[in-house]
Formats: sequence, structure tokens, C-alpha cells
Amino acid sequence: MNVALNYILNRGGQVVYISSRKLSSTIESKIVKAKKYILHQHFSGLPKQSDLKLVEEKLPNLRNGEFLSEAVYLSVDPYMRAYEPRLKLGTVFIGSQIAKITDSKSKQYPIGKYVVGQFGWRSHTITSEEEAKNPELLVNVLPDFGKLSLSLGLGVLGMPGNAAYFGFLEICKPKEGETVVVSGAAGAVGSVVGQIAKIKGCNVIGIAGDDEKGKWLINELGFDHFINYKKPNLHKTLAKCAPNGVDCYFDNVGGEISSTVLSQMNLHGRVSVCGAIVGYNANRSTLPTATITQGFIAIKQLRIEGFIATRWRDRWMEGIDQNLKWISEGKLKYRETVTEGFENTFQAFVDMLQGGNVGKAVVKV
Ligand SMILES: NC(=O)c1ccc[n+]([C@@H]2O[C@H](COP(=O)([O-])OP(=O)(O)OC[C@H]3O[C@@H](n4cnc5c(N)ncnc54)[C@H](OP(=O)(O)O)[C@@H]3O)[C@@H](O)[C@H]2O)c1
Repeated sequence: MNVALNYILNRGGQVVYISSRKLSSTIESKIVKAKKYILHQHFSGLPKQSDLKLVEEKLPNLRNGEFLSEAVYLSVDPYMRAYEPRLKLGTVFIGSQIAKITDSKSKQYPIGKYVVGQFGWRSHTITSEEEAKNPELLVNVLPDFGKLSLSLGLGVLGMPGNAAYFGFLEICKPKEGETVVVSGAAGAVGSVVGQIAKIKGCNVIGIAGDDEKGKWLINELGFDHFINYKKPNLHKTLAKCAPNGVDCYFDNVGGEISSTVLSQMNLHGRVSVCGAIVGYNANRSTLPTATITQGFIAIKQLRIEGFIATRWRDRWMEGIDQNLKWISEGKLKYRETVTEGFENTFQAFVDMLQGGNVGKAVVKV
């Protein structure tokens, strides 16, 4: 997702929504020390721990209209790797979090409430009401999830859930009985897409890189077929699972996996391009190559559309409400891979990039 990044870029790489003013010389009531990860050097290939630095920052006292929040869950997502080259060195690493308001001089954001926001990888954040209005920061008081974990606000009941809900339904427009393929099928977005496709009465084929993930997709989530892309003969296996061709493809990965799926699409098939993780750890000069697909696209008259979930910002709560309803009805299941400890955020991030997660990868601070 580009929102946090745009926000940062628009302001010359300064993470201005984090208050950075100097401590006033007046008597401090409370000194809060925030821990934050700053970008120390640009990634090359798989990110290295030494690319980020964990530093401390003393936060100033709150001014009127400001609130202090303490991170409870941090999100680690593939887009962070994709957007990193555009971040300026020294800025707080991007990312959203669920945080508890622990101090406040704002009626709108009172102590005890939980917020979700693009605060970056930091433990404590001061935000003003004005800053919180910026739509790109996506600061919202967390909706009531009942007994469900707050962390779902970063997954099935947050941005990835909405990427699945809007990105699949609005672009693929699936019809009952159609065949749907989803890559990255056992991840945060893909696992939701496949289940929504089942809710819509489709035949669903999930592609992921691990047989255990495949068992979860078939046995618990109700996918019809699973294909492990790390095994040979993806083309033949897909043809067996989809003997009548593919009508909709939800693409989380790109590369040769996607070229293979595109080559087996039906006339007027629809493709929703959500992401391209096969290339995220590659440098521009060494991007993976894949079979040319324009021939299949032209002959089958495919419609291919990329999206960013925040395109549906105006309908944001519709997706969350619907996914919550499906969860309560037992139609939508979810899993999280939870890493404990703020200090382990980087490890959680690279584990996720390498397939270590099932469902949404989050860090419990
Ligand atoms: N457009 C949007 O608004 C939007 C929003 C959210 C996410 N996204 C994109 O959607 C995709 C999935 O995101 P997510 O948050 O749901 O992540 P995720 O699927 O939960 O985690 C990433 C997964 O990618 C798979 N992967 C890693 N390297 C791969 C490779 N070379 N080939 C194939 N699969 C690979 C791994 O699973 P395996 O074990 O299967 O390899 C890993 O678990 C990403 O491309 C992301 O950038 C886009």
C-alpha cells in the first residue's frame, strides 16, 4: 500500500506526523521514551537486520489536541519491502499498527481507546487531531470487534481484508460456477480472497509454496484445489485442476506463476493484480523474467487491472463490516502468525517475505 509512503514522500521524506519537536524547557510531567526503527541503509536483496537501526527518542509533553498512543500490534507486510527504495535514509520505517491511547489532550481520542494508524515501526507515537485527519495516515479509532483479537484490525478486518474484499469483488466480478485462481493463497490477502470466492459459489484453486499451507486451504478454508508452486509441472497441474479453464485470477505474486495462469484463462477472463512479491527482493536490474503473456491476453480478450486497497477508502467500513459478518457466520476463517516482542519485528518481516507466515503476519509488542 502506498499511502504512508506517499505521505512521507509528499513531505520530502520527513515523517512529519510523528512529533519531533524538542523537549520544552518547562518541567516535564512524564517523560516517555519511544523506540523506533529507522532506515539506516537501503535494502539490497533480502533485507538485513543492519539495514535498520533501533533507536530511542524522548517524546515531548502533549499539547492541546494531541494524544499519545502505545503500540500493541505492529503489522509486517510485503509492500514495506516494495516501497523501501523510495524512503529516505533516517526516516522511521513504514507500517501500520494497533495502538492504545495512554495519554490524551484530545476529546476525540480519549485515554483507553485503541487506534489503527500508519505510525511506522515505533513503540509510542504522538499524533495531533489535525494530523489524524490526514486520510493517508489512515488513523481510525478501532471498530468494535467484540471478542475477537484487536490484531485483526491489521489483517482480515483491516487493509489486507479490504484488499481481498474490494480487489476481488470489484475487479474480478466473480459469478457462481466460475473457476477462480488465487496465488499467495495462504497469506493475509489470498486466504480471504479464496474464501470470498467460495462464498460466491466459485470453484477455487489456491497456489502457495508449502504443502502444510495447502492442507489448511483445503481442509479448513474449503478451497477445491491446492497447487504447490515449488513443485514441477505447474502448467499441467493447473490444467488438471481447471479442465475448463480459468475465469478469474487474483494475482498476489506475478512472475512465471502468473504467466502460467494467464495462459490458461478463458475468453473475457478477469485478472485483479494485487501485488508481485516474486520481484520485491530483486534489484531493478535483476528482476526475475517470465514468459511473455500479451498473446494470451489479446486472444482471450482478458481484462487486467491493478489496484491499491485505499482506492475504496470511502467504502472502507463496508469491507470490514462484511468480513466481520462472514466471520461471525462461520463463513470466513482466519489465521495469524504472531511474533512476540518489538525487538523481533525485523525477523517477523523477513520471515514473512520468505513464506514463514500462514495468514496475517503480526508482531505483538
Ligand atoms: N494492492 C494492495 O492494496 C495490496 C494490499 C495488501 C497486499 N498486497 C500485495 O498482496 C500480496 C500478498 O500480501 P499479503 O499481505 O497477503 O502477504 P502474505 O501473502 O501474507 O505474505 C507473503 C507471502 O508471499 C509468498 N511468497 C514469498 N515469496 C514468493 C515468491 N517468490 N513466489 C510466490 N510467493 C511468494 C509467501 O508464501 P508462500 O509460502 O506461498 O511462498 C509469503 O508467505 C503482496 O504482493 C502484497 O504486496 C497488495
